[in-house]
Amino acid sequence: MTEIKITAPDDWHLHVRDGAALAAVLPATAKQFARAIIMPNLRPPVRTVAEAAAYRQRILEALPAGSAFEPLMTLYLTDTTPPEEIVRVKESSFVKALKLYPAGATTNSDAGVTDLAKCDKTLEKMAELGIPLLTHGEVTDPAVDVFDREARFIERVMMPLRARLPQLKVVFEHITTREAAQYVSEADANVGATLTPQHLLYNRNEIFKGGIRPHFYCLPVLKREEHRVALVKAATSGSPKFFLGTDSAPHARNTKEVACGCAGCYTAPHALELYAEAFEAAGALDKLEGFASFHGPDFYGLPRNSGEVTLTRLDWKLPESVPYIDESGIVPLKAGETMRWKFAG
Ligand code: NCD
Ligand code: ZN
Repeated sequence: MTEIKITAPDDWHLHVRDGAALAAVLPATAKQFARAIIMPNLRPPVRTVAEAAAYRQRILEALPAGSAFEPLMTLYLTDTTPPEEIVRVKESSFVKALKLYPAGATTNSDAGVTDLAKCDKTLEKMAELGIPLLTHGEVTDPAVDVFDREARFIERVMMPLRARLPQLKVVFEHITTREAAQYVSEADANVGATLTPQHLLYNRNEIFKGGIRPHFYCLPVLKREEHRVALVKAATSGSPKFFLGTDSAPHARNTKEVACGCAGCYTAPHALELYAEAFEAAGALDKLEGFASFHGPDFYGLPRNSGEVTLTRLDWKLPESVPYIDESGIVPLKAGETMRWKFAG
């Protein structure tokens, strides 16, 4: 195989930040993907349709000239998001979902939900109007081991929520465990999941190989090999429940290579190539197109893209760092290593 041709793909979970950071990272995604679900965890978060409209405008202005990239906006669910805001979401053409960050679970989640019961009326409205809930699926209970937080989320939050509102569409974002893959596989068609390249390519040993390696640290954290294997199986199964969401999460090098470093892997510039590597290693390149280009729009009820993209079989070396908001730059996942596929447009 020397070439992969697939329908133009979308990224169903992406952080592009704001201001100078937005300008630095957005072109990379706009080059590879036709659309992306834009995460709302800015400071302050994107909580209303009006704020999402303004953020969307800033994204459109940061696009390279001539780009047809379409940002699909989300709102950050809080304890006090009113049901009326969901009506405004439905009326807007550009806000596609709400994001649940359990308060304290990850980067910029302090304004997140402290108790999902506080959102009852709002979640009911979402179910009624067909607005999906995107979940950062980890409990925040400090007594729960960091490697078990996703599995506990299924029992403590996901199952009760789905029992109460079975018609609510839910995306279990960036799943990292066998338990989550199994839960999503067995759920009905209202549940989907995104998978990142790092969770398909690496297990938790990668964080500690020869010393502590902060550029492999993201949330939810990488898990044991048995979990990675289960995630690859889910992604390459052909099941329409699983789709591409990079969770590309840029942080300047000097905020990761410190005593208390930020969580997030930067994968926007070489996202498709990373997924191609994972699918090729599983002998499942024929399943890449469904995962990258069909399952996401089908779940969201959006049209599939019409164009095509090509990857070429070529060994090339990733840079050690790429320009970002300061002189420290940003270190992409697999920096300095050899890639097997190259995005050719
Ligand atoms: C994300 C970020 O930096 O915004 N970090 C990460 O490790 N994935 C937040 C998130 O998606 O959890
Ligand atoms: Zn994320």
